[in-house]
Amino acid sequence: MNAVVLVSGGGTNLQAIIDRIADGTIHNTKITAVISNNAGAGALMRAEKAGIPAEVVSPSDFEDREKFNMALLEKVESYAPDLVVLAGFLVNIPPAMVKRFAGRIINIHPSLIPSFCGKGFYGLRVHEAALKRGVKVTGATVHFVDEGTDTGPIILQKAVEVKDGDTPEVLQRRVMEEAEWKILPGAIDMIATGRISIGKA
Ligand code: GAR
Repeated sequence: MNAVVLVSGGGTNLQAIIDRIADGTIHNTKITAVISNNAGAGALMRAEKAGIPAEVVSPSDFEDREKFNMALLEKVESYAPDLVVLAGFLVNIPPAMVKRFAGRIINIHPSLIPSFCGKGFYGLRVHEAALKRGVKVTGATVHFVDEGTDTGPIILQKAVEVKDGDTPEVLQRRVMEEAEWKILPGAIDMIATGRISIGKA
């Protein structure tokens, strides 16, 4: 299975996928490209270090959103991926891409969906909201991507304890270590080995 990974930031989830492919935990999978909307993303360096083609498609290089969306779709399509993985990709996926890769795009979200998800909930903001609400358990979710924001069918979830004195940064790190870096590779392996799918395009 060929996978294209879309990123925006540090790329620790990308690294987890790279490492789990290398140690054989993820079967039958090759990352053919890493694509970032952000030229400064640390994830690009991780890709290069692993010998994976790293590309940037930045909204600032295009006249409007529509042109950016088209360029992004064309870039992803050029790799003919079996699976598109959103690993901390903080851009709304255009409907044309959801349609083109129906059932073949997955996303990692740093909460137990349906809590703390949807528009405006991304990255550190998710953990800020969880701490503000005072939940004692949070976690992460991997789901198939549909036209909505964080609304697609859930593949895997893992709960993580919130501890007294947590800051958003401390909680984010615990959710990554205990949940995200496990369930994202886990979901990719499930798809690569045919243990889960939804209607293919
Ligand atoms: C991760 O916590 C991921 O779950 C989150 O962004 C972070 C990216 O970190 N994604 C979202 O909030 C999507 N709504 P990383 O670049 O180190 O993998």
